[in-house]
Amino acid sequence: MAEIRVEQLHKSFGDFAAVKDSNFVVESGDFFVLLGPSGCGKTTTLRMIAGLELPTSGRILLGGNDVTFKRAAERDIAFVFQLFALYPHMNVRKNIAFSLKCQGMPQKEINRRVEEAARILRIEHILDKSVTGLSGGDRQRVALGRAIVREPMCFLMDEPLGALDSEFRHLMCSELRGLHDRLKATTVYVTHDQLEAMSMADKIAIMNRGEVEQFGPPQEIYARPASMFVADFIGSPPMNFLHFHAGIPRGSGEALLGDAVVEMPVLQEDVAPRDLALGVRPEHIAFDDNSPLRGAVYGSEYLGTTQIVTVNTQFGQIKARTKSTGEVRPGENVGLRFASSRLSLFDKQSGRAVRSALFDGAAHG
Ligand SMILES: Nc1ncnc2c1ncn2[C@@H]1O[C@H](COP(=O)(O)OP(=O)(O)O)[C@@H](O)[C@H]1O
Ligand SMILES: [Mg+2]
Repeated sequence: MAEIRVEQLHKSFGDFAAVKDSNFVVESGDFFVLLGPSGCGKTTTLRMIAGLELPTSGRILLGGNDVTFKRAAERDIAFVFQLFALYPHMNVRKNIAFSLKCQGMPQKEINRRVEEAARILRIEHILDKSVTGLSGGDRQRVALGRAIVREPMCFLMDEPLGALDSEFRHLMCSELRGLHDRLKATTVYVTHDQLEAMSMADKIAIMNRGEVEQFGPPQEIYARPASMFVADFIGSPPMNFLHFHAGIPRGSGEALLGDAVVEMPVLQEDVAPRDLALGVRPEHIAFDDNSPLRGAVYGSEYLGTTQIVTVNTQFGQIKARTKSTGEVRPGENVGLRFASSRLSLFDKQSGRAVRSALFDGAAHG
């Protein structure tokens, strides 16, 4: 079993808290993604799991064992960095075998592992080549090979595709996920790229300023963002926010936005009058001439099967994703209808989601 459990993990550098009381569980065999903007504490979290950085407080459990104060070498973990340093004077085979050789593993076992890794990574044909002339993708595969041959309990990867161009990243993303599906090793993958995270993860923890804002499967995070930060960070274009001031009684399934009544999920608790933001994803907006919520089309962006239509409303610019067959003209007055069950409601001051009866409380923390 290679479950990773992070409990109240905290890291300060002087009086700056880089990671604040983090809690999450990476289940055995999961592909887990730590996602967040640059500087939010992802690398620091990963380095603590690896044993390269000591936490200020909190605990880390690997397969049920407390490893918080164990050295990196005593943890059965392989780390793949963004900038993969290969040994330039060695060929691919020797690069991959290097750590096993250092451990004094018998040559026969080394050969077996190197060949197995090369087969998984589909680099058998370059095993005897020098690493100096390799493409970025092949270099990355060699770096992965070095991690795979150790047959660790877990893999930690810190933006391993960051150095590759976007087309190639996309390919490596699906390769990495395919690799994981074959190896089934617990993996913690760090990225600032939400598309990478959404496409690869079994579970995501989204970090912001050292804090885990939400932790769950991609579908849940997308459908029920726990905060405005998460709602804005995930999805492109991101969720629209319509800002308004109102009190909403428990059990009510509607909100008054200006003079338009908007249907939304029934609330679990009374919301005293305050500043609120209604959150709606672009694909949950349809044009409907009978809707009281109106605006003027500003422009549209053709994306093949869909288009993104920007509409100026009294609540600011709203982006809708509609079928590209529906024609819209700039300046046209349109009514907007929201898929009511898909709406989110946020308390503007805290930025946190207001619970609705539709969603379980856990997801909204
Ligand atoms: N050794 C260190 N000393 C001081 N500050 C650090 C150190 N390492 C990281 N930090 C700070 O902690 C914050 C989080 O860094 P990091 O974990 O590298 O973020 P991320 O990987 O999400 O971009 C940043 O503000 C960074 O400047
Ligand atoms: Mg980093």
